Amino acid sequence: MKIGAPKETCEGEARVALTPDSAQRLQKLGYNCSVEAGAGAAASISDEAYREAGVTVVENAAGLWAQSDIVVKVREPSLKEVAGAPEGKILVSFVWPAQNEDLLRALNEKKMSVLAMDMVPRISRAQKMDALSSMANIAGYRAVIEAGANFGRFFTGQVTAAGKVPPAKVLVVGAGVAGLAAIGAAVSLGAIVRAFDVRPEVAEQIQSMGAEFLFLDFEESGAGEGGYAKPSSPEFREKQLALFREQAPEIDIVITTALIPGRPAPKLWLEDMVKAMKSGSVVVDLAAERGGNCDLTVPDDKIVTGKGVTVVGYTDFPSRMAAQASALYATNIRHMMDDLTPEKDGNPVIDMEDDVIRGALVCHRGEVTFPPPAPKIQAIAKQAPKPREKTLEEKAAATAEAMKKAGRRHVGLMTIGTVLVLLLGLIAPASFMQHLTVFVLAVFVGYQVIWNVTPALHTPLMAVTNAISGIIVLGAVLQIGSGSTWVVILATISVLIAAINLTGGFLVTKRMLAMFHKS
Ligand code: NAI
Repeated sequence: MKIGAPKETCEGEARVALTPDSAQRLQKLGYNCSVEAGAGAAASISDEAYREAGVTVVENAAGLWAQSDIVVKVREPSLKEVAGAPEGKILVSFVWPAQNEDLLRALNEKKMSVLAMDMVPRISRAQKMDALSSMANIAGYRAVIEAGANFGRFFTGQVTAAGKVPPAKVLVVGAGVAGLAAIGAAVSLGAIVRAFDVRPEVAEQIQSMGAEFLFLDFEESGAGEGGYAKPSSPEFREKQLALFREQAPEIDIVITTALIPGRPAPKLWLEDMVKAMKSGSVVVDLAAERGGNCDLTVPDDKIVTGKGVTVVGYTDFPSRMAAQASALYATNIRHMMDDLTPEKDGNPVIDMEDDVIRGALVCHRGEVTFPPPAPKIQAIAKQAPKPREKTLEEKAAATAEAMKKAGRRHVGLMTIGTVLVLLLGLIAPASFMQHLTVFVLAVFVGYQVIWNVTPALHTPLMAVTNAISGIIVLGAVLQIGSGSTWVVILATISVLIAAINLTGGFLVTKRMLAMFHKS
């Protein structure tokens, strides 16, 4: 069968759904590929590059629709496009069926089988087809670049001959796919990054990316179904706004990405917060398409307030990185086609039992199949209930009992040790007893010191043990010249073991320190 990608008709859309690379993979699945002339031009892909990859270049959109069995697109087709399209095609594209009822009806009237890329369920198996995530990832990254272009300073702090530059402070609101990508990009540019999300489970992800999670002292989780958030209570919202109000005068760049599927974007960065920001600060509102998280956002536009704060409300961030976005989106589509072609023979099979295909299918054989039934696999496995936390009294009682037990054991061991030393003192010479006492005390003190060091301090501890090993090597080298064979053997063994400890200690310390170096 034939797969064709027309040129996007939406004004300003620079992405394309088929790249030479994805076409080659689709050909391996048994498909013939074609593209409308100039479809990839805005994403820096020439017709020549397509031809070299074995793709047929068709002169116009009508010709492409007519000769393709499967049409792949980025943006949802316009009603005009659908009206001109032949019947019975398979369409793979963003569709947004909930917001585009008329379009869905028109597609269905044309007896098309439509797979909406925005409806691919967020389950592990479908990650490679998750175009929402791949586009949000680009949007998050681009939001930081856009913020940087509108911000008159460095992200990273610098000390130069011309003066000291403090690092920029970035706040990311909403740590979903776009938010995490924005955190990664801002941290890598050297900014101090703080982030907030209503889902407390993302705190670890935020921290692992080098940002600070702003905790809210409030007993409510914003986690909803399928890894998305649920609306917060008015009390929670007030607390959250108070937290943001506190941050506003300090923060240089705010990137807002907060969204709950199927709802208008929550207003979280209010007018007074924009007013409280320093002149030259920037707000990038990724939720602009759904009304925006910021009061002052103008969708598809950039405004500068009287105080000099820039508010960016562009809704086409992925298209602004068209080459990268096309490459990722075309790969998402290729994986979708892979799933649709189990025999790898160029013949798509729409399997209604497949969670991913059924989830994305919005109309088929003259029937609207949207909304799909809930997927059989949950997007995110429910967490096992945590065991009940012990009360303070219970914890104190348990600690006292453990200390008593440990105390009894220590007293027992010390009594046995003292008796053994006294018995030895009856038969051994006085000089031996003196050395033995020092040795036993050294072992005891060393054990207590090392055992009580927290793991976080093991690296400095290793430096101390290296110093001790150094002293041992020195002492043993002095003894090697002694006349007694036994002393020479023992000193040699000491040098050997202490040298191994020293070398190993330095190697491990070097490796651990390397973990903190920026490459
Ligand atoms: P997502 O659903 O993965 O993330 C949204 C995050 O917002 C979730 O972590 C959620 O817990 C959080 N959130 C919800 N309510 C919140 C609240 N009151 N306070 C703090 N956090 C809250 O969505 P994704 O894929 O990361 O996309 C984020 C936004 O970016 C969406 O609005 C999406 O439409 C937009 N987007 C914009 C593009 C553009 O060009 N402007 C392109 C791609 C995505």
